Amino acid sequence: MEVLVIGGAGQIGQELCQLLQDEDISYRAPSRDLLDLEDHKNVKQLIAEWKPDIVINTAGYRDAGHANYEPSRCYKMNRDCVASLADACNAAGAALIQISSWRVFDGDKKDAFTEKDTPNPKEVLGGSFWLGEQQIHQRCPRHIILRLSWIISSRGYNRVTRLLDSFEEGKPAGTCPNHRGCPTTTEDVARVLLALALQISCDLNVWGTYHYSAAEPIDEYSLAEIVLAEASQYVNIQESQLPVDDSEKEGDTQSEINACLNSTRLQHTFGIMSRPWRSGLARLVRNYYQSKQP
Ligand SMILES: NC(=O)c1ccc[n+]([C@@H]2O[C@H](COP(=O)([O-])OP(=O)(O)OC[C@H]3O[C@@H](n4cnc5c(N)ncnc54)[C@H](OP(=O)(O)O)[C@@H]3O)[C@@H](O)[C@H]2O)c1
Repeated sequence: MEVLVIGGAGQIGQELCQLLQDEDISYRAPSRDLLDLEDHKNVKQLIAEWKPDIVINTAGYRDAGHANYEPSRCYKMNRDCVASLADACNAAGAALIQISSWRVFDGDKKDAFTEKDTPNPKEVLGGSFWLGEQQIHQRCPRHIILRLSWIISSRGYNRVTRLLDSFEEGKPAGTCPNHRGCPTTTEDVARVLLALALQISCDLNVWGTYHYSAAEPIDEYSLAEIVLAEASQYVNIQESQLPVDDSEKEGDTQSEINACLNSTRLQHTFGIMSRPWRSGLARLVRNYYQSKQP
């Protein structure tokens, strides 16, 4: 099996490359300088030349706030580049595994979203993911779209590093108890991606869209309290930095948002079980502080 990882320097990509290396699986993870998804012709040429069995795309526009101010840039990356990547994979006979997001949903459901729920994105970023997914459906039948809930890692920008950074900077951590999700470590996502790659390399007819999130949903405020308890082993945290409930800021009516995904279909099709995120969180916080040491 020959794997091509796009976005290999990112939060999920780094973990995936490490795992592929540990498992002695042949892979390429070109830097953006060598393979830029925005250069459609080059992407097509490289995939035709390298002939990977599986392309795993972890690259994408991911900043929900910025996306509302630069929608065309977001659509270009998550819809147009993905469409052209799907064409390139299909032409070269490669299967495509594409990361997508809970943001394709409106977050209004009480229970975790399943693959049967109809996407109804509220914002530009979710809309761009949903349009990208549809492009893949039309252009590359041998695909798996993996929708994820909240990604957490010891590096990069995510809910946990944002909290740890605010503790480091002596600032209060603003959170919202109305926002619920399933924190999923990048290590866990890499495990799932590898399991998918191994199973589709056996040419099973399992193409389509799947959800994965770690077990145990939690709200943002409670997650911040747990992260704070872990962080207090490494740094002194003042009372003024305790997690703040931002949900009732003046003029900012923060409605309930449910980012939880139901992973049952993935479990039944591939035998991939959801793992709890709490044990991974302790290691993640330790790694964050170790990486800060001179
Ligand atoms: N964070 C979450 O909670 C969450 C939840 C669900 C889904 N997701 C999605 O999961 C995906 C991966 O997330 P992540 O946190 O691992 O992302 P990340 O850390 O931002 O990494 C993205 C990687 O993609 C590369 N890249 C960006 N533009 C590119 C281009 N035009 N051509 C080639 N490579 C390009 C980046 O390269 P450089 O290193 O050169 O910048 C980087 O290595 C994203 O699509 C994200 O939206 C995230």
